[in-house]
Amino acid sequence: MNASRPPVVAGNWKMNKTNPEAVSLVRELIAELGASPPCEIVLCPPFTALTEVSLLLGGTAIRLGAQNLHAEAKGAFTGEVSGDMVRSTGCTHVLVGHSERRRLFGESDDMVAKKTRAALASGLSPIVCLGETLEERERNETAAVVTRQLEVAVLGLPPDAVPRLLLAYEPVWAIGTGRTATPAQAQEVHALLRARLGGRFGESGRRVRILYGGSCTADSAGDLLSQEDVDGTLVGGASLEAKGFARIARAAGAAR
Ligand code: PGA
Repeated sequence: MNASRPPVVAGNWKMNKTNPEAVSLVRELIAELGASPPCEIVLCPPFTALTEVSLLLGGTAIRLGAQNLHAEAKGAFTGEVSGDMVRSTGCTHVLVGHSERRRLFGESDDMVAKKTRAALASGLSPIVCLGETLEERERNETAAVVTRQLEVAVLGLPPDAVPRLLLAYEPVWAIGTGRTATPAQAQEVHALLRARLGGRFGESGRRVRILYGGSCTADSAGDLLSQEDVDGTLVGGASLEAKGFARIARAAGAAR
C-alpha cells in the first residue's frame, strides 16, 4: 500500500445470491460500514441483482461492478450483456478476464483485450484480472505469463484510458482454494506489473491500482495490504458474508 494510491476492496460474488439474498447482504454491509466506508468498495453481484443492489447503494459511497460483459456493443448474441447495459444499471466497474472466465468459458487474451476496450468505451472502469496456474508457477513461468496477459489486454490501450484502469493479480492456484499467496509472492508480481505499466505509460501507469485476489480473508488482508504494491483486494468467498467483508475493508482503510 502506498499513500498515493487509495485502497480498493472489491467483492466478486460469482454465481451466488438470488435477489432477496443480495438485498439482505447489501443491507447488512451498509449497516456494518455506514454510508462512508473506510476505503473504496466495489460490489460485483451477478447480473440479475445489479439493478436492485444499485438502488440500495444510492446515497452511499459503495460502488457497483459487473462480473463480465460482451465485447460487442449490441446485436444477436443470445444470453450476453453489453457494457452499455451494465452501465445503465448503475455500474461503474466491471471485472474482465477473471480466471474462471478464461478457464471455464474459453476467454483468450485477445478476448480479454476486446472486453477491456468495450468496458472503457461504455464509460466503465475495467478491473482486468490476470494470474498464473500452479503448473506455470512450478515451471517458473509466472513472470512470463502475467507479462503476456498484461501486454495483450492492457499495454496497447490508449494512454488516456489508464486512469480508469484497475488490475487484479489473482494466482489461479489461490482462488477458492484457501491457499493465499504469501505477501512476498504477491508483492513480487505486483511490483513487476507496476514496472511494466510505468515503462509503457509513465507516471499514470505507476498509479494504476493493483488488487490481490485469491483466498483473501479478514485474517490475511492486513499483511497483504502492508506490501508496497498491493493496493487492495479482490475478494470472492469472503465477500459473501457482511461482517468478514467489512473487516477486510477496515483492514484496507487502516493500511492506508
Ligand atoms: P476467492 O476468489 O477469494 O474465493 O479465492 C477470488 C476471486 O476469484 O476473485
